[in-house]
Amino acid sequence: MTQTLRLNNGNEIPSIGIGTWKADRESVQEAVEYAVLEVGYRHIDCASIYGNQKEIGKAFRNIFKKIPREEVFITSKLWSNKHGTATENALKNTLSDLQIDYLDLYLIHWAIAFPVGEELEPLDENGIIQSANIPIQETWKEMENLVKKKLVKSIGVANFTTSSLVDLLSYAKIKPVTNQIELHPYNSQAELIDFMTYNDLVATAYSPLGTPGGIKDEDPILMQDDAVKKIAKKHKATEAQILLAWGMQRGTSVIPKSTNKKRISENFASTEISLNEDDIEVLDSLNANYRFVDPNGWWGIPYFS
Ligand code: A2P
Repeated sequence: MTQTLRLNNGNEIPSIGIGTWKADRESVQEAVEYAVLEVGYRHIDCASIYGNQKEIGKAFRNIFKKIPREEVFITSKLWSNKHGTATENALKNTLSDLQIDYLDLYLIHWAIAFPVGEELEPLDENGIIQSANIPIQETWKEMENLVKKKLVKSIGVANFTTSSLVDLLSYAKIKPVTNQIELHPYNSQAELIDFMTYNDLVATAYSPLGTPGGIKDEDPILMQDDAVKKIAKKHKATEAQILLAWGMQRGTSVIPKSTNKKRISENFASTEISLNEDDIEVLDSLNANYRFVDPNGWWGIPYFS
């Protein structure tokens, strides 16, 4: 059994899951089957925008011949071009791709709606993302209906800032259970996590390894940080394991992506590492509010400012 975190509706989310962003279609099925059936992962994080849900669905078909569906926590996310009245159909397409009949958790992927249609990231003539007149409140109502229809067990959000959460909490009849955000020692977002904890929302950490290799050329490599290396050496662990242990020990659920069997196993073994207060203090001190994932570069809007 993996350790779990209790959500505000009584459901539980495993503290470690496997991420599938950038998991290519050729390798993701085998990786997910291996993670669940051979290693023991019980939490898979998906999203329609990742473009690989059909392949993950093939993995689920094989997995659920061997273990009960209820044993695995499956998350997916609503992309911004399917907000408002398009929400339910988008969810149904995701369920069909994943070959399952309910999700454990469905998230609004970003607090911005694009025009409803097939275009995933519609930019205007100036290279700025086009937004649609669909308030998050309308989409949230649709998300709540999915819970009532028992198509999803829990609902939540991703990439929401404090002000977006304040707004959402003002009208939500069914509270979000989580906000999935970029979290690692270079971007520890302690104040946002405090606010979420106060409001009984679990934080789910994406890019918990600092997306090694980076996204932009100038990105630093967190796993090569001397402080992280030193703590890893002391624990006879890998840098990745230290970063994941830090994430779990601060009460967040971590979802490292890997399609490599050795690293899938290595990441899961991070649950056995216990960092002491000094280690945690050192890792906490690395915060630089550094985001590897910032849509300013793709959408031309200062989303997080
Ligand atoms: P791979 O799939 O080849 O293992 P994040 O979740 O922070 O975005 O990190 C994902 C990236 O980190 C992927 O490129 C993944 O590559 C790599 N990765 C995952 N686990 C490890 C690990 N234990 N050691 C080194 N790199 C890893």
